[in-house]
Amino acid sequence: MTKKQRVGLSRREIIASAATFMAAGGAAKRVLAVEAPDSRRTRREFPDIASGNPDLPEFHGPRVIGATPGRDFLFQVPHTGATPLVLSASGLPRGLRMTDTGLIRGKIQSPGTYNVRLTATNRAGHAHRVLRIVAGQHKLGLTPPMGWNSWYAYSTGNTAELTRAAADALVKHGLAAKGFMYVNLDDGWQGGRTASGQIMPTEKFGNMQALIAHVHELGLRFGIYSSPGPQTCAHHTGSWGHELLDAQSYARWGVDFLKYDWCSYTKEVPRHPDLQQYIKPYAVMRRALDSVDRDIFFSLCQYGMAHVWTWGAKAPVFGNQWRTSGDIIDTWAAISRNGFDAQRQLYPFAGPGHWNDPCMLMLGYGKYWSGALRPTRLTPHEQLLQVTLWSMLAAPMVLSCDLDKLDKFTIDLVTNTEIIAVDQDELGMQGQCVDRQAGGMEIWARPLWDGTVAVALFNRGAKSQTGHIASWDMLDPVLPRGARTLRGSQQVRDLWKRKTLGSMARISMPVPSHSAVMLKIGNPAH
Ligand code: GAL
Repeated sequence: MTKKQRVGLSRREIIASAATFMAAGGAAKRVLAVEAPDSRRTRREFPDIASGNPDLPEFHGPRVIGATPGRDFLFQVPHTGATPLVLSASGLPRGLRMTDTGLIRGKIQSPGTYNVRLTATNRAGHAHRVLRIVAGQHKLGLTPPMGWNSWYAYSTGNTAELTRAAADALVKHGLAAKGFMYVNLDDGWQGGRTASGQIMPTEKFGNMQALIAHVHELGLRFGIYSSPGPQTCAHHTGSWGHELLDAQSYARWGVDFLKYDWCSYTKEVPRHPDLQQYIKPYAVMRRALDSVDRDIFFSLCQYGMAHVWTWGAKAPVFGNQWRTSGDIIDTWAAISRNGFDAQRQLYPFAGPGHWNDPCMLMLGYGKYWSGALRPTRLTPHEQLLQVTLWSMLAAPMVLSCDLDKLDKFTIDLVTNTEIIAVDQDELGMQGQCVDRQAGGMEIWARPLWDGTVAVALFNRGAKSQTGHIASWDMLDPVLPRGARTLRGSQQVRDLWKRKTLGSMARISMPVPSHSAVMLKIGNPAH
């Protein structure tokens, strides 16, 4: 039996156990690894999207970021603008410093909330932003993480060299400057244990500390992957019985993010585990992570079993995100299931520090479980729809492709800062479907920190058609209590086209099949 077949088998076991909970009403859905591409649609039709003016000084990415006092802090302020560009920060907490390239490092001395005033100046003008730094215990992930993961790009063929190249490419292609900051290893880096039980990387990774130091020097953060079971899904060494030792290794190496994937843990629980048995492995790892002197974002991966969204953020787990469904793949059916269907009811569970994770962005060249690098099978419109939906969902924005093969369309798709700003919005309210219209049109909305509302028109149907918002009161159900309602004529901006459409009392807009329009409604209050 080949390695690939073995991975497939264990996946079926996992899906079977997840199915128990889905049958009990869980929103998680099965996504099989291989599905037929939909060949009927025209693949060459590209949506019209605009990029911003790269010369203007601008800040991007999160407006709020958290950390534990006394632990290493590293945050490269995402910004763009023609050089020479002068950056300054005032109001930094004691213990932090910012370099002239915008890298904030150090250790925050005391808990609290700090409003840091950032300024960027170049010959084209000035930009100002208040970056809120929240210092306290369990304050990570106050906006959804953005970055890269090795799995769909290289599966178990990933190496230190490829990972370095991915980190370099995030910087080279301007993605880091827009907020993509995590470089995450997935399965396949583990090479067994030493006699004293320490986890070792395979030869392909060699000196993990050196690799991580390289990533940190670029102002990026580093993620790693393990399983609470004895083996990971691809049959590498898991953390079973070595949780504390592993957390200590991660901290020593400088790891910033852990994806903890259920996999063979199925063998350690009865056929029909009770809730406590689902929670236990994540509570054990949380205890280990809390005992080391490093901030490590905790990503739960167990495919949505036992309604993880109801307990993943709470004591004793304090997870920062959880997968809500099975693996995604680069097909329309998978985007539909993981993105729309599995998420529709889950908006109450997402928020600053804890996010629903519908899995990764299916963009660019990857292996996509197929063995060889190939372009995504999603059409350009479906790709745009995925980015729109993930942004509306406040979902982690994680690319998983060969970043050296990114084309201009893909780069434009993931670096539109108006779309990213919605994903990273500091209210952290996940979008909701507010209306379903004939032919597969869905209208989703999510309130934003500045008093405006992001609205997406999704056409899930097979034909181009028009989406309607007859009056703004359709958006009322998503507004936080006490928020101003939108009435009468409101400013409407098309975020993909970066164009203000004018003052409008209603909307009727054409949306191509399997595509989306994303708008911002209302006058910003600040
Ligand atoms: C799956 C997981 C994938 C990937 C893979 C690695 O269980 O859902 O995202 O991590 O394991 O083997």
